[in-house]
Amino acid sequence: MLLTPVSSDEYVRLVLPETHALWGGKRDLARYAADFRAVADSPYGRRRPFTIGLHDEEKLVTSCKLYERELRWASKTLRATGIGAVFTPPSYRGRGYASALLAMVLDRERAAGRDLAFLYSDIHPAFYQRLGFIPLPSRRLTLRAASLDDARSGAKPLEDRDRPGVQRCFRQLDVSRAWAFTRTPLVWKWIWQKWTAAPAPREQRVNLVVRHKRDVLVYVVALRVPREDMLFVEEFGFAGEDGRARLSAIFRAAAGDLARVRMWMPPPGARDALSRGSPSVRKNAIFMVAPISPAARDWWQANKIEILAARSDPAWVADHV
Ligand SMILES: CC(C)(COP(=O)(O)OP(=O)(O)OC[C@H]1O[C@@H](n2cnc3c(N)ncnc32)[C@H](O)[C@@H]1OP(=O)(O)O)[C@@H](O)C(=O)NCCC(=O)NCCS
Repeated sequence: MLLTPVSSDEYVRLVLPETHALWGGKRDLARYAADFRAVADSPYGRRRPFTIGLHDEEKLVTSCKLYERELRWASKTLRATGIGAVFTPPSYRGRGYASALLAMVLDRERAAGRDLAFLYSDIHPAFYQRLGFIPLPSRRLTLRAASLDDARSGAKPLEDRDRPGVQRCFRQLDVSRAWAFTRTPLVWKWIWQKWTAAPAPREQRVNLVVRHKRDVLVYVVALRVPREDMLFVEEFGFAGEDGRARLSAIFRAAAGDLARVRMWMPPPGARDALSRGSPSVRKNAIFMVAPISPAARDWWQANKIEILAARSDPAWVADHV
């Protein structure tokens, strides 16, 4: 069996109808397919075969998506491969296809000089641990909206012109981290596209900024989920003490009448700006990494104690693949 690219057309025809119930959320199949094509056809998705799989007697028996990312650590750049949407149709399960696919992906990436693979597991992590992936802390943080600052925030809807200011805020927090996923211009473009896409039915996007002259003091990218009485914050950032001081008020403005604000446990720097909140363990999207080069093994040895004991988690939702 050979690892082969799966064309977008084949993927839309054969795989998406089967995974729609699992990962489509509230989107209908057409919207789910359109969202897939938006990534697959973007410059980011086209840098390498985005969807790959194994064929057995010409039938596609298992497949996944591959994302190219970089991780910066001190002065080094580690080349990372994100693996998403591992899927075997029910009638082919339990025959070792997905395990073979992942083992072949790891071998191929190692041979191509890449340093680590990562994924977000929605199943029991033991399946991926057998293949060499290590689970990292994957939590969420919930705040009561009533505990937030109800002062006037001065928040306005995020616009395209805010992009440089948002990126500046992001960098200010990001530089304090010992290591992180790099946001190249291409990655930023992809993330911005996701943040500004129309939300799923019954969800509302609230992306807010507080500006000072032409600059951005603080931003929040979030989804209002009224059915769950919750604001789900995907990302936030701020510049300086002025920005940090307005964080609570911008969350409150975004939450409006919703009772709770929930987010993935933010990375260092951002986490420290939030004093309150109840942490809980995530049951899905468990962040896992597999170091496959000597440089990545050094990275893991140097950072593992800190990563496993930290109050903060390593990745933002935007790094989810
Ligand atoms: C998980 C999945 C990809 C495995 O595909 P597969 O080709 O059957 O995998 P393999 O044959 O290599 O391995 C089978 C083993 O996977 C493990 N496995 C399957 N589902 C699992 C789950 N929900 N949690 C943990 N392990 C699981 C079991 O150990 C299973 O062994 P068993 O058949 O002896 O019980 C397949 O079940 C699937 O497509 N599930 C739905 C999509 C999904 O959840 N994908 C993972 C996203 S992170």
